[in-house]
Amino acid sequence: MTSNRLRVALQKSGRLAIESQKLLKTCGIKFNINEQRLIVHSDNLPIDILRVRDDDIPGLVMDGVVDIGIVGENVLVEEQLERQIYNKPASYTKIRQLDFGYCRLSLAVPAEFDYQQPNSLSNLRIATTYPNLLKQFMQNKDIAYQDCILKGSVEVAPRAGLADAICDLVSTGATLEANGLKETEIIFKSKACIIQSPATQPDEKQLLIDTIMSRVNGVIQAKE
Ligand code: PRP
Ligand code: ZN
Ligand code: MG
Repeated sequence: MTSNRLRVALQKSGRLAIESQKLLKTCGIKFNINEQRLIVHSDNLPIDILRVRDDDIPGLVMDGVVDIGIVGENVLVEEQLERQIYNKPASYTKIRQLDFGYCRLSLAVPAEFDYQQPNSLSNLRIATTYPNLLKQFMQNKDIAYQDCILKGSVEVAPRAGLADAICDLVSTGATLEANGLKETEIIFKSKACIIQSPATQPDEKQLLIDTIMSRVNGVIQAKE
């Protein structure tokens, strides 16, 4: 199922979606997003844009299903750690660091929780969508804890009695605030980046990637 067209994965909706589309358009790739469609064909270049969930992008690149993807480092590193456990393909090349999608993965506890240090969470249950990044942080500090793995609504877990603390993405802090939580520890800082699959072939595709990347560099340098 190899295609001669370059496949690019973008987040369908969310933190990175608009900026990712804008970047490709600024680089001269013409396309029209149809909300109903998973795949969008570029009007002027041999490029297909796949619109998917951000969490799916690292795996699509690592498996060689798409050639490049725009993704947050948070989901990228989480997927890499997960795949290393199961000996699944986990390699990619980060071809560009981007200047949007800033956020941090943090520990947070209810406002009234007497938090002194990470050790304050010893043997407690922590709700998260990022079990592997959390495990890495807690193992480094040699702190035992229990998991509560949720794909969404992590911020309501303490109030719902599902967990004592959370480990979730924070950008403005509004979600924590609205849920009576306080941020206590930053465990990972993230921004968007462009990654490429080790499987990209043939050379014409690589040439197209190189052309796009030199345009991306131009766009970013012009802003600096
Ligand atoms: C994250 C996180 C919070 C929110 C925090 O979700 O899970 O819900 O952003 O942002 P704030 O500090 O500005 O309130 P996001 O929508 O980025 O990712 P997801 O849809 O993959 O959970
Ligand atoms: Zn997501
Ligand atoms: Mg969310």
